[in-house]
Amino acid sequence: MLVEKKKLQLLVSFHRRSLLTHSVGEMLDLLSKEVRQILDAERVTVFLLDARKEELFAKSATGLNPRTVASLRFEVTQGIAGYVARTGRSLNVKDAYRDRRFDPRFDELHGFRTGSVLAVPLKNSQGEIIGVLEVFNKARETQFTSEDQGLLELIAGQISGTFEISQLLEQLRRSNLEAIYILAQAAEYRDQEDTAHHLKRISDYSTILARVMGFSAERVEMVRFASPLHDIGKIAIRDSILRKPGRYTPEEHDEMKKHTIFGYEILKDAQSPLLQLAREVALTHHERFDGTGYPRKLKGDEIPIESRIVALADVFDALSTERVYKPPWPFERVAEHVVGESGKHFDPQVVEVFRQSLSQIEAVLKSA
Ligand code: C2E
Ligand code: SIN
Ligand code: SIN
Ligand code: FE
Ligand code: FE
Repeated sequence: MLVEKKKLQLLVSFHRRSLLTHSVGEMLDLLSKEVRQILDAERVTVFLLDARKEELFAKSATGLNPRTVASLRFEVTQGIAGYVARTGRSLNVKDAYRDRRFDPRFDELHGFRTGSVLAVPLKNSQGEIIGVLEVFNKARETQFTSEDQGLLELIAGQISGTFEISQLLEQLRRSNLEAIYILAQAAEYRDQEDTAHHLKRISDYSTILARVMGFSAERVEMVRFASPLHDIGKIAIRDSILRKPGRYTPEEHDEMKKHTIFGYEILKDAQSPLLQLAREVALTHHERFDGTGYPRKLKGDEIPIESRIVALADVFDALSTERVYKPPWPFERVAEHVVGESGKHFDPQVVEVFRQSLSQIEAVLKSA
């Protein structure tokens, strides 16, 4: 029963890992890979029923060209998958070409030769059909066994709960990020700049730098959403300073410098890692690598790396666009300035990454 044991292990490991995935898509990708291995199938497709329940579309697949997966959508009256979605019954077909429900046009579309097919319904916790899990071409044998069917139904039954949790988590994550973005926009609303675009650019530049720097996808995401909050403390700066139509006196600049500390205080009690990062960035994005910045004159790697990234992105954006107190500088001049500040205002490592990303950065600037 070695095979059975292996199958069970795969199943258990899938459950553990599916809870750690970040999105429904990621969870289903994991599912289709595991199912293919467990059932020894040539390909696997996870179909979901669209909201109006008239069509099935492929949400994930293993063993198929990703391009054909994206275009795989058909009416629920069609195909083996359609039959399963309509009736809620599993189907185990030995030879698709001898089953009238099969439509050979799918094979033409995929450049694939379908033999055996096993398809089971996916249901939500209310028992409503939400999709179809379909596996194709049992390796080395002519047909999927009834044991395979039992296993696939078990998997399908178990993932419905996971599916809903991961949908909820995704919604939660999205509304969370949306709220953060709105918070950032509210903070800059009184500023004279074109706020929405400014925030988007800061976020884009910081994301590019973090990615080229080799950050993990997750850390890049953190930078993407923490960076627009860097100036949240400006919400506490009075209008006569924030909106002054011209250059600051030294005293006025000192007042403005407090926006770093205000930002830190606003985010002081943050519990989430994302907002904790935003808090550090708000506090330290005006520190300079050489230790002459504000508010604490931190030096080098005393400044969090994310802040060293945002500092460059922020200045790049301030110089390359118009401010009430200065005209925009041409791209080349800004790039020269940034490179000239290597080791002074900016971390040489971040400047090096900036140099490698010049064309991507310029594309963001030009697209605004
Ligand atoms: P900001 O406009 O987003 O600028 C961010 C940072 O970019 C500035 O931080 C500064 O390091 C850099 N920067 C901006 N313009 C220039 C420039 O013409 N030359 C150089 N070398 N660097 C530049 P800083 O100076 O701490 O300013 C923080 C914020 O204070 C600015 O954010 C802006 O909102 C405000 N601010 C600074 N100076 C003035 C000013 O003279 N007049 C007005 N109205 N606001 C100012
Ligand atoms: C497919 O080939 O992707 C769908 C086939 C079917 O369910 O009939
Ligand atoms: C600023 O305070 O906005 C920048 C000062 C400068 O032009 O160097
Ligand atoms: Fe700032
Ligand atoms: Fe800024």
